[in-house]
Amino acid sequence: MLQKLKALKANAIQELESIDIAKELESWRIRYLGKKSELTQILRSLASLPIEEKRAVGACANEVRAELEDNLRQKEQALQKAQLALSAQKESVDITLPGRSFPRGHLHPITQTLYEICDIFGSMGFRVMEGPEVEWDYYNFEALNIPEEHPARDVMSTSWIDYETDSGQRPMLLRTHTTSVTARTIETMSPPIRVVEPGRVYRYEASDATHTPMFHQIDGLVVDKGITMGDLKGTLYEFARRFFGEERKVRFRCDYFPFVEPGAEMAIECLNCGGEGCRLCGNSGWIEILGAGMTHPEVLRRGGIDPEVYTSFAFGMGIDRLPMLRHNIDDIRLFYGSDLRFLKQF
Ligand code: DAH
Repeated sequence: MLQKLKALKANAIQELESIDIAKELESWRIRYLGKKSELTQILRSLASLPIEEKRAVGACANEVRAELEDNLRQKEQALQKAQLALSAQKESVDITLPGRSFPRGHLHPITQTLYEICDIFGSMGFRVMEGPEVEWDYYNFEALNIPEEHPARDVMSTSWIDYETDSGQRPMLLRTHTTSVTARTIETMSPPIRVVEPGRVYRYEASDATHTPMFHQIDGLVVDKGITMGDLKGTLYEFARRFFGEERKVRFRCDYFPFVEPGAEMAIECLNCGGEGCRLCGNSGWIEILGAGMTHPEVLRRGGIDPEVYTSFAFGMGIDRLPMLRHNIDDIRLFYGSDLRFLKQF
């Protein structure tokens, strides 16, 4: 009997050692320690043995059981530990690897230019005002001294909105310039006024390398007591110096716009040829940047500001051309083509 127990123990332990999956431990337990196992049978049969043998076999069988149980517990722990180590290895993060980078966008070059211009005027005490892109005829033309039959309306090739009044008038349009915001500002604010008015404008035109039916402008307006042409020139000269660089030469000349008197046009020395004359500047050496002037007294009066007390200057310029000049871009349509290969360069 003792011999049998010894063999049983050796067998059980050998088998236990070869197990490497936790699931198999239970069937091992049933086989060697369960109710129907050989060991349990031996323990049960002890009663029928003579006293001497009962003592020896009993002690030995109990010892074997304790040892097998002990071995089982150790094996369970060992398998559990191995399992933990394995999953830790699977989930572990290597903190020395470089992070995954996400694609990052940036502002459109036109928006960048707008922000830059607003920053320059902001530092000179100007506030930013915005107005609607769908505008009344009144603010786009009438309030700016451009009556119904005025030729300036034809020059601006307006996109009208289909909205007819009883009298058959078509008073609504897509604004053709941001000067419409100037008309609104004069009506709603009281002096002293110092604002810039950036935004989109629309002209009924076909696209080509220098035209798109939608583009960007920024207008400016200053109203106060004693404002003169000297303030206009000083302000715009400072802007040109900051935007185009210290050395860039600036030229003012007379021009005509219905809403200013006198009117002027500002040009900068050509960025391409430095004033020598080239294709970009039409051989003149100068590039026109903006229109400006002393706000017409009639425009102030219409908006409820007394031109006998206050004087004012205004200006307006196209935005899209500025980054084109700066970066030597020869087709304005590239800005609106949404081609990332182009846009990513800025
Ligand atoms: N609105 C004019 C245009 O689109 C530009 C302009 C000229 C605006 C003179 C002004 C100004 O405010 O004073 O051509």
